[in-house]
Amino acid sequence: IKTKVGIVGGGPAGLMLSHMLGQAGIENIVVEARDHQSISNTHRAGILEAQAVSMLVDSGVDGRVLSEGDVHSGIDLRFNGESHPLDFTDLVDATVTLYAQNEVFIDLAAARARDGGDVRYLCEVTELMDLETDTPKFRFTNAEDEAFEVHCDILIGADGSRSFCRRQIPDTNRQDFTVTYPFAWFGILTEAPKSAPELIYANSPHGFALISQRSETVQRMYFQCHPGENVHDWSEDRIWTELQARVDGPDNFTLKTGKIFDKTVLKFRSFVREPLSHGRLFLIGDAGHTVPPTGAKGLNLAFADVKVLFEALDSYYSTSNDALLHAYSDTALKRVWKAQNFSYWMTSMLHTPVDADPFMAKRALGELETVTSSRYGQQYLAESYTGWPHA
Ligand code: DHB
Repeated sequence: IKTKVGIVGGGPAGLMLSHMLGQAGIENIVVEARDHQSISNTHRAGILEAQAVSMLVDSGVDGRVLSEGDVHSGIDLRFNGESHPLDFTDLVDATVTLYAQNEVFIDLAAARARDGGDVRYLCEVTELMDLETDTPKFRFTNAEDEAFEVHCDILIGADGSRSFCRRQIPDTNRQDFTVTYPFAWFGILTEAPKSAPELIYANSPHGFALISQRSETVQRMYFQCHPGENVHDWSEDRIWTELQARVDGPDNFTLKTGKIFDKTVLKFRSFVREPLSHGRLFLIGDAGHTVPPTGAKGLNLAFADVKVLFEALDSYYSTSNDALLHAYSDTALKRVWKAQNFSYWMTSMLHTPVDADPFMAKRALGELETVTSSRYGQQYLAESYTGWPHA
């Protein structure tokens, strides 16, 4: 198979890049290990920056994000049992859209199918070759065990946090940066009405909780848990008791409960690979960096990578100038580190490790008080949450 851009990984990052390249007439192929159904059922975060929404809408993916997505103009930071609403529209004149990541995937996959994009599911990449040359190649096998070799100009690693592509880069001249956390998130989907108009991020003596939403009738919630927690040990009653304990307060705020139909333990870390490229291989999204989920920067950051890389590829194919391609890693990493800082900050301010030093737990409350009691503090959080301007 001969093409211009070979994309390994058909999640939102790989498909968004493929779609934008397709719109610009730049031939590409996407090879994805999983099947469409299992990616559609993978529940991830649900907050899109306005810029991510624009990328979908302006490139003609589909208007579903506008018709089905829910515009949110703030969040509620809850600590010491009290609510502290932040109004993003008032603070920074910006909003976010709640639209689940698996819906983004479904829309992108549909747009690729509609436009005749070459996206192959259930295909496992087995080898990358000639990364340091002008003709990088890779091999993959499909579900019928037939083997293929792809010859391209540019190879993209969009294959997620456990990236095969990233692991093919030699050890020299590269560095990995990692932070691990002593906690994970227990995520549920429940058939219940909304408990509050905006998302609630709660710091409590029992640990963090996030009260998010999916629709009028389905809600998404998370609570901080031990990374080794087993979902089978958690009955509906036990989950509701735990979630309620984390939002309890003198205002008697009460969660609206319902049948729980999905339970998952989500492990996470902070991770960055530098640089984000090697020869003709470019890493985008989780393949190059992952953030803890607090603040929902993962998909937004992946889309920001796609924007930078698309512009570099478009420039390369229209002018033969590869200066922007050479600059891709440095350009993308500036935003990556801003998002790393924000996600680490939100995580450390809102979570309480089980064996927390009492000073550190009180310090985090002091930080929440500092942020919420000042318009500047609120604006700092609001600006980061709604997303810094794209490069
Ligand atoms: C959701 C997840 C997040 O990590 C977040 O910060 C906000 C919302 C969600 O799944 O809805």
